[in-house]
Amino acid sequence: MNTKPLFIPVILGTTRKGRASENVARFVFEEVKKSEGVETEFIDLRDLKFTTEDAGESIKDSNFSATVQRADGLVLVVPEYNHGYPGLLKHALDTNLKEYIHKAVGVCGVSAGGFGGTRVIENLLPVLRELGLVTIFWDGNFSNAHKIFDASGVLLETAYVKRIDKFLKELIWMSKVLRHGRENIEVGH
Ligand SMILES: Cc1cc2nc3c(=O)[nH]c(=O)nc-3n(C[C@H](O)[C@H](O)[C@H](O)COP(=O)(O)O)c2cc1C
Repeated sequence: MNTKPLFIPVILGTTRKGRASENVARFVFEEVKKSEGVETEFIDLRDLKFTTEDAGESIKDSNFSATVQRADGLVLVVPEYNHGYPGLLKHALDTNLKEYIHKAVGVCGVSAGGFGGTRVIENLLPVLRELGLVTIFWDGNFSNAHKIFDASGVLLETAYVKRIDKFLKELIWMSKVLRHGRENIEVGH
């Protein structure tokens, strides 16, 4: 069994000024950092400046692709915009393909309303599947996103700590299983 730390970066999926998703992503990032045997990195969509003149693998950012290639799992923090995901996040995700295959992904939905981004998560699942990622069956659901952190970004609703712990345990388990599979089990097609 490989005992090397897992690498599970957190991707903040919006560039919007005033984004509440940043507080969520920073909170989740700190929780991932506390997880034993896991290394992480914070990836801010604002730092990924892809041209909009083309799309897909032809506009790869070599650093972003190398980070995804190294990853065993990903956490996506995704705000709900009209029940969908930010177009810029999709544009960034589309720049990789083989880098994602047989790797785990967990999604934290963020919304102003009371449904914790459940609709954006449901809409994102088929995209993640097409990318070759393996989705876990536990999500992060952050409702009333502007109200659950104080002005300095400290989480006020402490119940999220336990919920995210459960989410991360599942993501870590799936990341380990898939790493074992990638390293030891031949793909049969
Ligand atoms: C274009 C747009 C559409 C939105 N649509 C929804 C929505 O469908 N449901 C919802 O609960 N909140 C919606 N919101 C509010 C965001 O979910 C809210 O701002 C939340 O904090 C996450 O986004 P943020 O990180 O950009 O702040 C929308 C916000 C924007 C900018």
